[in-house]
Amino acid sequence: MISECLAVNEQGHLTVSGVDTVALADQYKTPLYVMDEETIRLNLRNLKKAIDESCPSGGLVAFASKACSFKEMYRIVHDEQCGTDVVSCGEMMTALSAGMPADKIFYHGNNKTEEDLELALEKNIGHIVVDNPDELEMLSKLAGEKGKEVRVLLRITPGIDAHTHSFIKTGQIDSKFGFTLETGEDLKGAKQAISLPNIILEGLHCHIGSQIFDEEPMKHAAEVMITFMSQIQKETGYVIPVLNLGGGFGVAYTEDDHPKKHYEYMHLIGEKVKEISETLQFPVPFVVVEPGRSIVGSAGITLYTVGHVKTIPGVRTYVSVNGGMTDNPRYILYQADYTALIANKANEPKTETVTIAGHCCESGDLLQENTPLQKCEHGDILAVLTTGAYNYSMASNYNRFPKPPVVMVKDGTSRVVVKRESFEDLMKNDV
Ligand code: LLP
Repeated sequence: MISECLAVNEQGHLTVSGVDTVALADQYKTPLYVMDEETIRLNLRNLKKAIDESCPSGGLVAFASKACSFKEMYRIVHDEQCGTDVVSCGEMMTALSAGMPADKIFYHGNNKTEEDLELALEKNIGHIVVDNPDELEMLSKLAGEKGKEVRVLLRITPGIDAHTHSFIKTGQIDSKFGFTLETGEDLKGAKQAISLPNIILEGLHCHIGSQIFDEEPMKHAAEVMITFMSQIQKETGYVIPVLNLGGGFGVAYTEDDHPKKHYEYMHLIGEKVKEISETLQFPVPFVVVEPGRSIVGSAGITLYTVGHVKTIPGVRTYVSVNGGMTDNPRYILYQADYTALIANKANEPKTETVTIAGHCCESGDLLQENTPLQKCEHGDILAVLTTGAYNYSMASNYNRFPKPPVVMVKDGTSRVVVKRESFEDLMKNDV
């Protein structure tokens, strides 16, 4: 199976961490997000161990909560002694209300408003990742008004092509994010940050993209960033102590994907950070990484009930399910590959090639095209694997479909960590 927490029991049913998914579908109804707590914890722990082992000046795993944001996630992340990256006041407030210490929050965003920054200051958010010179000026002024000093990291666009889908790569020069290295805007920004009152320049940040399998661009990013830190030291005498290398470690969505484990990438990056720092005689920085997908992706599956199965001879077979782009917009957005199977026939061979159609009034609402599947019929339970990242967090209420609940599985038991939306929830802001 593509994720270690998945198996098949004697009844031929798909299980998550030993829990029968067909029974889960029966108990909680579908569509349903299921997440395995132990997988999430192990992913956090293994990466934390790798960073501790490979970074002599220490480091921190800051879970990129855009991949999966709800209170219980932040509780688990905090319990595993990790921090979090947030990209909106919504994520920030959810993290804080779940007990994530403000000091362990990295606040991102390429267009934070004055109100956003005021809230971040009021909540004493530990690290603000500043995207541009306007934000830096605004933050310095607002911090001054509140009589506070604020720790910032500058988001740098290092001009590295990470060979992934163009919508999810962000480090190349043509990007809306960050201070651009090629244009010299970055050095100006660093000097501005060093000289502005109420600002403590604690670090530099970059994120070169997502779902990356090749370690070379990751190592290259570390090299470019430390070289830049050393240049800042030479020009200003100022030593920046923290290097945040963003997220991006890829995961397997199908049997054709063969990424390394995220902790293996981390060891390689840690080695590179040490090597370059030694070569440039620059103090080895404290390293922060912001993984999202590699923490939660393989921990999640989505369960649906099969409705109509429509075969158009010589064209294709549509298997319609009671979810779709509303709970997983990644196929319609990125033609993202997934592995699907019939959870109640998990031992049977996949003899069919089908297109899985969602429930929305939109022809493009598909979950997969021409994908192998067991022969299925009305009432079967369809499982889509590796949906833990960017599914619940990117879900919408298009066509006014309520969002599915999230059920967390642990030690053979299950519990609801996000409730199913009701029709009242859908209408609660309507006047
Ligand atoms: N840090 C920053 C600054 C980011 O922009 C991102 C992702 C991450 C960390 C986490 O990256 P990860 O470890 O998850 O690859 N919606 C897209 C992914 C967009 C990623 C945006 N930034 C998808 O569904 O594939």
